[in-house]
Amino acid sequence: MNVFRSIQDFKNWRSKLPPPVSVGFVPTMGALHPGHASLIRRSLLENDITILSIFVNPTQFGPNEDFNQYPRTLEEDLELARSLRVDAVLLPTVADVYPTHYSTMICESVVSKPLCGIFRPGHFDGVTTIVLKLFLGVRPNHAYFGMKDAQQFYVIQKMVKDLDLELSVVGVDTVREESGLALSSRNRYLSSDARTRVAPMIYTWLCRLREEILSKGAAPSIQLAARDLKEAGFQIQYLEIRSLPRLESFDASIWQKDQDLLIAFAGLLEKTRLIDNVIVQAIH
Ligand code: PAF
Repeated sequence: MNVFRSIQDFKNWRSKLPPPVSVGFVPTMGALHPGHASLIRRSLLENDITILSIFVNPTQFGPNEDFNQYPRTLEEDLELARSLRVDAVLLPTVADVYPTHYSTMICESVVSKPLCGIFRPGHFDGVTTIVLKLFLGVRPNHAYFGMKDAQQFYVIQKMVKDLDLELSVVGVDTVREESGLALSSRNRYLSSDARTRVAPMIYTWLCRLREEILSKGAAPSIQLAARDLKEAGFQIQYLEIRSLPRLESFDASIWQKDQDLLIAFAGLLEKTRLIDNVIVQAIH
């Protein structure tokens, strides 16, 4: 497995790959878990070459967020990548990505605004900036993102479309613990009771709301869900239904069941921020 700590060394290697080779790319911030492994496996299946990046990107963390505390487990991550047979790992440094006097940001201005855009101002500008920089260096044919971060997926898909980038953005299903809790690098911060008993309530409610929408055309229990999750210990940031792919507000009175919907949740449990979502597939 090739491991590159400099973008220039990586680009030199990349430029020698013959053009017909299909390149799959899995950008991550490390602390890899089975959710990341499923992105890597999908890329390995669909491409000749799979490239993984590990970079905890400072520009997507707000001043009071957990950039310094974000888990860093490089040796285990490289071990996993090696065991899965990833071809190359890019480990750029902050100085390499954002040299002194760096001053250009990429900003998607519709899909990035609601939901996490409200609670993490500037977050998606950091995400689109790093992802575009990585796309320009890696030049992938396919890039793989987990659907747990559904808003991130739709923001990146929109950026790729708006900027005419020639690659496909592939969303991979969320991997869950048996309890239904979506895998996340941050789950390790939860107490055992929170992780096994309380956090799984998110997915239980999301599924129940999806059932309601499919059977009644609306989700009358959304307030009940919010109250129940609050009583269980969550500090809720949002529990909302949005239309896809632009994440516009959902109006049950005009919904024709021909448009996919996202039911999305974000909240703090024991100071750990958890997000999750389910998609309501339209009937075409
Ligand atoms: O989803 C993530 O891990 C990050 O937001 C990403 C896409 C690697 C950009 O830093």
